Amino acid sequence: MDGNGRWAQRRWLPRAAGHRQGVAVLTPLLEAAGRAGVKTLTLYAFSTENWERPESEVKTLMRLFLETARKKVPELNERGARLRFLGRREGLPGRVLEALEEAERLTAGNDSLDVYIALNYGGRAEIVDAARRMAADGVPPEDIDEEKFARYLYAPDVPEVDLVIRTSGELRVSNFLLWQIAYAEFYVTETLWPDFSPEEFMQALRSFAARSRRRGGV
Ligand code: IPE
Ligand code: MG
Repeated sequence: MDGNGRWAQRRWLPRAAGHRQGVAVLTPLLEAAGRAGVKTLTLYAFSTENWERPESEVKTLMRLFLETARKKVPELNERGARLRFLGRREGLPGRVLEALEEAERLTAGNDSLDVYIALNYGGRAEIVDAARRMAADGVPPEDIDEEKFARYLYAPDVPEVDLVIRTSGELRVSNFLLWQIAYAEFYVTETLWPDFSPEEFMQALRSFAARSRRRGGV
């Protein structure tokens, strides 16, 4: 969800205003995803690299995550969404982690749409953490294959990613779901995240549907 800062800057607003608007577009998007029959959606909210931002912005974002959890989780629960946290638990403020875990507990029985919140998430960190846990379990090297490895990722049931939507025109992966995007299609748009609409989301899905996916075949 990139481009919040630039959205604010263009309006002479503080960056926090861009992050707020970035949250405001979530509900209509999740509704559109549900209507379109999307089963899994991952929102990249905060990366392991985002800690490098000024302390005041990190604090603002953490506060916004808490506030958003309080406001949106009951709403999402009513819509039948199942929320899951994706990321490194260590390093997150206790209250943010608690809110995420509470949201997971509350929505665990839902099945209309799986929403993964990638927070304190890094694709490399996820792979390293998986390798560590495998080593700690004493898995013998000859037992390691792709399927086994995938079972040690943060959320083993995250399916392979079909489509990555990248806003604000950036042409890079930025450490997002490195393992799971091996064969993902990309939709890149100049639109800044706070301007990303359900109409454009549908446009991205149409673009995806029109592609032929060969996955290394012919
Ligand atoms: C949001 O956009 C990303 C978050 C970490 C929440 P940015 O804050 O990266 O916006 P730009 O790139 O400065 O426009
Ligand atoms: Mg950015």
